[in-house]
Amino acid sequence: MAKRPLNVGLIGGGKGAFIVQPHQKAIHFDGTRRVVAGALFPDAKIAMEEAEKWPYPIKGYGSYDEMIATQAGLPEDQRLDYVLIVTPNHVHYDPALKAIKAGIPVFCEKPLTVTLKEASDLVKTVRKNNIPFGVAHTYLGHWTSRFSRYIVRSGLLGEVRWVDSYYIQGWLATKLEDTGQMQASWRTNPKLAGGSCCGGDIGTHALMQLRFVTGLELKKVSAQMETFVPGRVLDDHFTVYCELNNGAKAMVRASQICHGHKNDLGIEIVGTKGTLRWRQEDPECLIIHLPGKPDLVYWRGAVTPGDGFLPKEMPADLMAEPTIPSGHPEAFHDAFARLHRCFEADIRKWQAGEKFACDGSKYANVEDGWMGIAFIETCLKSSAKKGAWTAMPKKI
Ligand SMILES: NC(=O)c1ccc[n+]([C@@H]2O[C@H](COP(=O)([O-])OP(=O)(O)OC[C@H]3O[C@@H](n4cnc5c(N)ncnc54)[C@H](O)[C@@H]3O)[C@@H](O)[C@H]2O)c1
Repeated sequence: MAKRPLNVGLIGGGKGAFIVQPHQKAIHFDGTRRVVAGALFPDAKIAMEEAEKWPYPIKGYGSYDEMIATQAGLPEDQRLDYVLIVTPNHVHYDPALKAIKAGIPVFCEKPLTVTLKEASDLVKTVRKNNIPFGVAHTYLGHWTSRFSRYIVRSGLLGEVRWVDSYYIQGWLATKLEDTGQMQASWRTNPKLAGGSCCGGDIGTHALMQLRFVTGLELKKVSAQMETFVPGRVLDDHFTVYCELNNGAKAMVRASQICHGHKNDLGIEIVGTKGTLRWRQEDPECLIIHLPGKPDLVYWRGAVTPGDGFLPKEMPADLMAEPTIPSGHPEAFHDAFARLHRCFEADIRKWQAGEKFACDGSKYANVEDGWMGIAFIETCLKSSAKKGAWTAMPKKI
């Protein structure tokens, strides 16, 4: 018999909010999850009005405190199965901590928190409570990101020598925040965004893509966090030269002032035997360059094991991952759905008292979120010293 759908509560998402929309579509993607409740706005009255206006019926709460406290009092099988946190960065830590303590799994937007102390607290609390926790690094959800991870980690490109991981945008090339545009206003305000705009907002995605695909960690960084738009306080251009733990070098770079670039996230990995290239704006396709050979172009859904580059035996879970036939393009919403689907699988195991993974192999976990904040804090220190090489803290 089909299992009941998982019930999800939203924290944030009212009044024209952005990222809640892809998430709520992705939650409903498989029919096995649904949004049933929400604390959608900081003001209680508006939060209730926004819940009333939601396109399908949900139970509104005046605040996330009220939602979590009410849910914590319910029997386990009637409680929300997870909460999704889609608020600005400074409102991640408090609801996440309260939900975990109330026994409710959390799927939280990135960057995880605004300080490393808060991120460390969350890691410790998640471990103590042994509860599923995911961080919404969207682009890990593309099948081609998983495929890239397999190619690089299984050594098909040899030893990694160089990585260029980037996320380039142009939407903050003017002082958009002065127009009152909601997303620009809080991202450029250090009280709400944290110590970095560009680095925290999108540099953390570039870092996560590098770590997810290569399995390598950063040893030290030399960072330049620059502000090109006059009058802006936080960085809008973020360039970080990195040394990795295998001795390789990497560039993790991001920008929000590059006219013409929309969501130009991509990665190029250069190994001793070949190079891999992937861009999220063209997410179905992955290119491999091998010396002296024609380029290999792989399309999601049309990958043949044993083709001369790929081995005959490929990981069963990678090849069996639900996708639609090639040529029916998967994109942004599919990536989000894959993250929620994998998070659901861990929650169902956790609810059944079984061992659950939450190991960062299918979606980012709380330790990955911590690493993003550790990266930003280390870059801030390096940048303040004009790009001096600065060691990353030890893994938590
Ligand atoms: N994974 C991705 O690709 C991706 C993309 C965009 C944004 N994000 C992240 O998602 C988060 C939200 O970004 P956004 O662009 O959707 O922001 P937004 O400004 O569009 O939406 C934020 C929402 O949070 C609500 N909110 C603020 N404080 C609240 C509180 N105390 N209680 C309840 N609701 C509250 C706001 O009213 C609004 O509805 C940020 O952390 C951002 O970094 C991630």
